[in-house]
Formats: sequence, C-alpha cells, structure tokens
Amino acid sequence: MILVVGGTGRLGNQVVRALRDQGKDVRALVRKGSEYFWLNDTGTNYFFGDLRDPQSLHRALRDCESVISSAAVRVEQTDNNHKTMAQGHESLWEAAKARGVKRAVFVSCAGVPVGGEVPAFSSKRASEEALVSSGIPYTIFRPGLFAPNFADLLRRADFNGSVFLPGRLDAKVSPIHPRDVADIIAAALESGDGANETIELAGPDTLTVDAAWKVACEEAGLQPAFWNMSPAGLKMAAAALRPIVRRWANHFQALGVNFGQDQVIDGVGVAGRFGVTLTPYRQAVKAAWLDRHPGEDPVAREEKVVHRQFVATIYEPGTIRYEDLPEGPPPRQD
Ligand SMILES: NC(=O)c1ccc[n+]([C@@H]2O[C@H](COP(=O)([O-])OP(=O)(O)OC[C@H]3O[C@@H](n4cnc5c(N)ncnc54)[C@H](OP(=O)(O)O)[C@@H]3O)[C@@H](O)[C@H]2O)c1
Repeated sequence: MILVVGGTGRLGNQVVRALRDQGKDVRALVRKGSEYFWLNDTGTNYFFGDLRDPQSLHRALRDCESVISSAAVRVEQTDNNHKTMAQGHESLWEAAKARGVKRAVFVSCAGVPVGGEVPAFSSKRASEEALVSSGIPYTIFRPGLFAPNFADLLRRADFNGSVFLPGRLDAKVSPIHPRDVADIIAAALESGDGANETIELAGPDTLTVDAAWKVACEEAGLQPAFWNMSPAGLKMAAAALRPIVRRWANHFQALGVNFGQDQVIDGVGVAGRFGVTLTPYRQAVKAAWLDRHPGEDPVAREEKVVHRQFVATIYEPGTIRYEDLPEGPPPRQD
C-alpha cells in the first residue's frame, strides 16, 4: 500500500492516477472538506486525516510500504500555512519511521536552493531536512514551474480582461507537465532508482517567461492584455502588504523567486533515466487550457458528486432527498 498525501491537488491526483495505472494499491490521505470524490474513478482508498493531526498520519500509514507527499498551500490560511506544512511533514516522517515505511517521496520545488527565508521555500527546505534526517530511504523531487501555471494566468486574463505576469519576462523557464512529474515519481518508486537523492525536474523546452506566455496565448487562440510586475515591483508589493496581509506578502515573494530567475535544468536527461518521455511545452499548456478540472463544470459536478451523504450534508443540507441522489461507487468486495 502506498499513502499519497496531497492526492486531491494538481500534481497529487496525477500521482494517484500514475500509481493506479501501474496497478498499485493507493490510499489517499484526504481532508474532510476536500473534494476527494474526483478520484473515485481511480479506485483509490481514502483515509480522512490532515498533516496537522499527527495521530491521523500514524493511523493512515498502517501497512504502508511507501509514502508520497505533494501537499502544499498555495496561498496561506491562518491555520494552514507554510509553517504548519513544515511541522506536518515532520510529523509525517516521524509517523512513517515508526510504521517502518521503506521509502518516502517528497515533492519540493526548484526554488528551494535560491528561495532563502521566503516562507514558501524555507518551509519546503525544513521538510526536506526533516526527511533526510529521519533515516527513511527517501527521494526528494524539485520540479520547476508547472506548464498549467501559464494556462491559469490565461484563464485569469480571460476572466478579468488582463493579468499581470510576475517576475522577469526574459527569465528562462522549462515548464513541465504535472503528469510527467507523476510518471517519474511512479517509476522511481517502482524501480527503486533515486534512493537518497534530491532530483531536479523540468520540461523539455526552455523558453523565456514572455515566450511561454505567447505560446499559451496561441494555443488558446486569445490575445489578452497583460502587464508585467518586475521582481523589484513584487518586492515592493510584498513589503507594502506585509503589515496588512502577511499571506499575500509571502505569496508575492514566492512569485518573485519562481519567475524571477533562470531555471535551467536538464529535464530530458533526468526523465530519460526514469524511462519517461516528457511532453513538449506547447502540448502541455494546450492540454492544461483544454482539460479543465471537472470541478469547474457544473454538469460534471452533477455527475461526479456521487457520495450521497456528501451532497446531502455538504452541498444542500436539508433540501436534498437521499433517494433522489445519484448512486455512489459499488462497495468493495475484498
Ligand atoms: N505549481 C507549480 O508550478 C509547482 C512548481 C514546482 C513545485 N511545485 C510543488 O508541487 C507540489 C504540488 O503542487 P500542486 O500544484 O499539486 O499543489 P495543489 O494543487 O495546491 O495541492 C495541494 C494539496 O495539498 C493538500 N493539503 C493542503 N493542506 C493540507 C493539510 N493540512 N493536510 C493534508 N493535505 C493538505 C491539498 O488538499 P485539499 O484538497 O484538501 O486542499 C491538496 O491536495 C507542491 O509542493 C508545490 O509546491 C509546484
């Protein structure tokens, strides 16, 4: 059994799918409010827990030989933030050690070596260090930017009329398809390759932020207005926001790191080592633009929200009749 933490996320759901495609037994640690049901078609098991609840982690890891975490917070909340993420991962590795887990994989990010004390990166560095010192055989993956980030920016521009491109427009990036990251993780776990290594990952094409944006616009057939907020502008915005909303200040600082410098990594060589052929950026960003998460589609929501109790108690409490709700997945026979 493999425990996946963060399985409801953009990368995590691909990790669950990649492992299930290999025929692995997967248990996804999901938070009570999570939209875990989008994973129903994968046949993964669910375990309700939270990185902030060490006991739930210990229980979730029962009979697991491996654990993978791609959990993160994008914009912090008062009670779920970069600090609690670092503490939560420390608890996860402690629980994994106590349970005799044989391999732990942590998804960090390429910005860690240059991120200094910016919380998004110092938190990841602390999680990495806790894993290494736990003594559990580990692999830390540090991917660069995900290709769907550019589709996200485009969506924002399409919705608001314009968007700001953060950082340096001439910074070199090699955006990677999250499914490729997931396939590399699954291959590493399967083969045992990458044990006790920290490995950077990137897509096959290196281009400037400006060029990556233009390719995304071409693939979507849009020409939205954009303006650039330079690294200096991001720094000033972060300083101005810090006394009022710290989480946005931290977010702007993180953007400054992710989009502020060249990220040149030999993605092809690393992927080849794990037998994975990387998706060209143009194809990856087009897929990200077209393949919207079904959660954004009201019809798909209707079809996918199959847990009767979930609909009845979370979405429309007191108004939906249980017998009118769609059938859930069949109960397990084993
Ligand atoms: N996006 C990029 O360009 C990029 C680039 C390099 C590296 N990375 C890294 O790759 C990893 C995955 O990114 P992503 O885009 O897939 O993230 P994401 O979509 O934001 O997913 C985050 C996941 O973490 C879970 N989570 C949040 N708080 C939790 C808690 N307290 N306990 C347990 N689970 C919790 C979320 O669950 P809920 O569904 O309950 O919220 C979700 O499943 C992150 O570490 C990220 O930093 C991202």
